[in-house]
Amino acid sequence: MRHSLSLAVTVATFLARFVASQPAPEELVPLFDALARGPSTVHANLAPRVPLSTNDDTVSPLVDLQVYAPPVLPQGGTKCTVQLLQHDFGDGSYNNPTIVPYKPPTEDACGAPGGWAAITLNMTVFSNGTQYDRLSSLYLSHVEIWRHSSAEPTKTGTVWSVKDVTRYSALFATSGDLLMDFSNIISSDLGLDGVFHVTLTGTFYAPTQGFGRPQTPDLILPITNLLPNQSNYFTVADDAGGSASVLVPRTAQQAFVEIYASGNSAEEFWYLNTPDEYLVYFPESTGLIGKGPFREVQVAVDDKLAGVVWPHAVIYTGGITPTNWRPLTAYGTYDQPTYFVDVTPFLPLLADGAVHNITLRVRGQGENPSINSNWFVSGSLHLWLGNTEISGSITKYEAPANPLPQTTGAVSADNATVRTLVVANRSIVIESVLHGDKGTRLVRFEQQLDYRNEQKYTDAGWVQWGVQTTKGTTTSTHGGEPVLRDAFTYPLSVFSNYTLYEAQFGGYGSAVNQSYLRVLDSPVLGRGARSIVSIQHAEGTVGMDDWPGLRHAINGTGATDQQFAFTTSSGQTYFRSIAAKNDAWVRDSVWGSLQDEEPPVPKEQIFPGGGPGFRRMVGPGIVRRAR
Ligand SMILES: *[C@@H]1O[C@H](CO)[C@@H](O)[C@H](O)[C@H]1NC(C)=O
Ligand SMILES: *[C@@H]1O[C@H](CO)[C@@H](O)[C@H](O)[C@H]1NC(C)=O
Ligand SMILES: *[C@@H]1O[C@H](CO)[C@@H](O)[C@H](O)[C@H]1NC(C)=O
Ligand SMILES: *[C@@H]1O[C@H](CO)[C@@H](O)[C@H](O)[C@H]1NC(C)=O
Ligand SMILES: *[C@@H]1O[C@H](CO)[C@@H](O)[C@H](O)[C@H]1NC(C)=O
Ligand SMILES: *[C@@H]1O[C@H](CO)[C@@H](O)[C@H](O)[C@H]1NC(C)=O
Ligand SMILES: *[C@@H]1O[C@H](CO)[C@@H](O)[C@H](O)[C@H]1NC(C)=O
Ligand SMILES: *[C@@H]1O[C@H](CO)[C@@H](O)[C@H](O)[C@H]1NC(C)=O
Ligand SMILES: *[C@@H]1O[C@H](CO)[C@@H](O)[C@H](O)[C@H]1NC(C)=O
Repeated sequence: MRHSLSLAVTVATFLARFVASQPAPEELVPLFDALARGPSTVHANLAPRVPLSTNDDTVSPLVDLQVYAPPVLPQGGTKCTVQLLQHDFGDGSYNNPTIVPYKPPTEDACGAPGGWAAITLNMTVFSNGTQYDRLSSLYLSHVEIWRHSSAEPTKTGTVWSVKDVTRYSALFATSGDLLMDFSNIISSDLGLDGVFHVTLTGTFYAPTQGFGRPQTPDLILPITNLLPNQSNYFTVADDAGGSASVLVPRTAQQAFVEIYASGNSAEEFWYLNTPDEYLVYFPESTGLIGKGPFREVQVAVDDKLAGVVWPHAVIYTGGITPTNWRPLTAYGTYDQPTYFVDVTPFLPLLADGAVHNITLRVRGQGENPSINSNWFVSGSLHLWLGNTEISGSITKYEAPANPLPQTTGAVSADNATVRTLVVANRSIVIESVLHGDKGTRLVRFEQQLDYRNEQKYTDAGWVQWGVQTTKGTTTSTHGGEPVLRDAFTYPLSVFSNYTLYEAQFGGYGSAVNQSYLRVLDSPVLGRGARSIVSIQHAEGTVGMDDWPGLRHAINGTGATDQQFAFTTSSGQTYFRSIAAKNDAWVRDSVWGSLQDEEPPVPKEQIFPGGGPGFRRMVGPGIVRRAR
C-alpha cells in the first residue's frame, strides 16, 4: 500500500522537534505553507506513458531526475555556454577517469574570468542498456566540484542535472585539468551493457547592475589525493583517513573547509549497520554488517580536530529497493550535499608560511578500525585573501577528539527479536582572537549536534526497521557578525523485509521515509541563506527468480512521493510536488519564482495511474541486496 502524505502531521512533527538553535518555526512556515497551498495551475494529462524499456528509437526517453534547488541567476545580462567535456564511460572506464584541459572562456558575453556573477554546470548522461548505479566524481584542478550517481538504466534513458558551481569561480578563472571518474563495467557475463554517454557544459554569467560578482573565495586548495589519473577523493577504510598538505598565503583572512563524504560498499547503508555487540545474535546469512550506524566525518588541522560533519544519508538509485527510485531518485543522488567547517580560528597556525596538514577522517562504532570499507571523502580549503598578515591565537578549544555514541539494546530469549538504540551528541566550541585586515576580532566556531538511531529486527534479522534522526547547528561569528549558519534535521526511517529472500521466486520489499531540512548560510556559497525542505516517502518490492542458481530480479513495484520547498533570503522560491509509481510519472507540479529554471517533466510523461511496474525476462540481474 502506498503511504499518502499527511502534510499537517509532518509539519507539526518537524516543528516540535526543533530545539532552540534550530530554524525558528516562522522561518520554515513559508515553505510548508506554500506546499500546503499547492500550485496555482495543475497540469493533468492522460497521454500514454513513455515506456522505460524499449528498443524503439522513436520513443523519447523517460525523464529521470533528482529534485534540486535551481540556481539563482542574473536576469537580462549576458551569458555563454561552452562544452567542457564529452566522454563515453563504457568498457575499460573502471578506475580510468577521463581528463581534459580546461581554459576559462574568453567570449565577451561570458564576462571577465573570475568576475562572473554565476557559473552553472549541466551534465547530461544518456544510457541505452542495463547497468548498476555507478558513482561519479568531477574535479577541477584536483578539487572535487560534483559528486553524483547514475540512474539504473534499462534501455533508453537520459538524465541531466544542473549544478551551481559559482563558489568555485577562483578555480574556473585559471586554466587547469578537468577530471571525471565514472567507473563503469561492461560485461556480457553479468548482462551489463549500459554505457554512460556524458556531455558536460558550463554556463558563465556576466555580472549585471542588480546581480554582481558574489564574494566567493579568492583561492581554493584541494584536500584530495592529487593523483593525476584516478579519482581524487580519499578512499578511507581505516581510522587514519586522508591527509593533504596545504600552503596558505600569510594574508589569508578567512578559511573554510568544504567536505564531500559518502559511504560505499559495506558503508553504503552505514545508517543500518548493526552495533557489534548485537551482531552475534543474527545468523550470518542475513548479511547484516557491523560497526554500528553512527558515523562522524572529522576535519583536523595538523591532527587537531577543527570540526565535524554528521552527514545526510544519500541513497543511490540501486539503494535498499531499486524500484523505489525510478524515475524519481532520493534527494542528493545526482548532487550530493556538502558541508562546511570554519577553520578561520586556525589561521594563525595555517598561515604562518609553513606547510600544514589537513586530514579528513571517518569515525564509526567498531574497533580498529571503527568503520568498514569504505568511505569516499574529499575537501577543499576556501580562502579569502587580504592585505595584512594574519596573526593571533586560539583562546578557547573545547573539541573532544572523539564522539562518544552510546549503545543499548535488548534481545529476545530465542534471538528472533532484537532492538538496538544508539544515541550521541556533541558540542564543539573553538575561539581565536585574530589580528588582520579588520583589526582585532574574536572568531568563534560552534557545533551542537544530536543523533538517535533505533533498529528493530524481527524474524532473526530478516525484517529490519531503522529510524534515525540527525540534527544540529553549526555556526560561526567573526567579530560578533554571523558568518556561517547550518541548521539541519535529517530524519530517515527504513523498513525492509527479506523474509522471502531465500525462497524460490522470493524477493524483498522496503518502505523509506527520508527528509532533509536545512537552513544554510555559508560565505563559500555567498548570496545569503538558503532553506530546503525535502520530504520523501518511497516503497517498493522486487521479485527474484530461481534460487539457489543465479538470482535475477524479474519484476517489481515502486512508488515515491516528494514534497520539496526551497527559499532564499533574497526572496527567491521554488516548490515542487512530485510522484512516480511503477516506472512512470504520476504527478509533477512546480511553482515559485524559480519555476522556469527547472520546470516539471513534460505532460506527455505524466500517467496518473502509474506504470505497469518493472518486468524483465530472465537474464542477468540488475538488482543487488540492500545490505
Ligand atoms: C538502443 O540500443 C539498441 C540495441 O541494444 C539499438 O537498437 C537502439 O537503436 C538504441 N537506441 C538509441 C536511442 O540509441
Ligand atoms: C541541460 O542540457 C540538456 C541536454 O542538452 C538540455 O535539454 C537542457 O535544457 C539543459 N538544461 C539547462 C537548464 O540548460
Ligand atoms: C597514473 O599515474 C601514475 C603516476 O604518474 C603512473 O605511474 C601510472 O602509470 C598512470 N597510470 C595510467 C593508467 O595512466
Ligand atoms: C603531516 O602528515 C605527515 C604524514 O602523516 C607527517 O609526516 C607530517 O609531520 C605532518 N605535518 C605536520 C605539519 O603536521
Ligand atoms: C543467541 O545468540 C547467542 C550469541 O550468538 C548464542 O550464544 C545463543 O546460543 C543464541 N540463542 C539461541 C536460542 O539461538
Ligand atoms: C549527551 O549525551 C550524554 C551522554 O550520552 C548524555 O548524558 C546527555 O544527556 C546528552 N545531552 C543531551 C542534551 O542530549
Ligand atoms: C513513513 O511515514 C508514514 C506516514 O507518516 C508512516 O505511516 C510510515 O509508517 C512511515 N514508514 C516508515 C518506514 O517509517
Ligand atoms: C514480511 O514479508 C512476508 C512475506 O510477504 C510477510 O508474510 C510478513 O508479514 C512481512 N513482515 C512484516 C513485518 O511486514
Ligand atoms: C513476480 O513474479 C512472481 C513469479 O512469477 C509472481 O508470483 C509475483 O506475483 C510477481 N510479482 C509482481 C509484483 O508482479
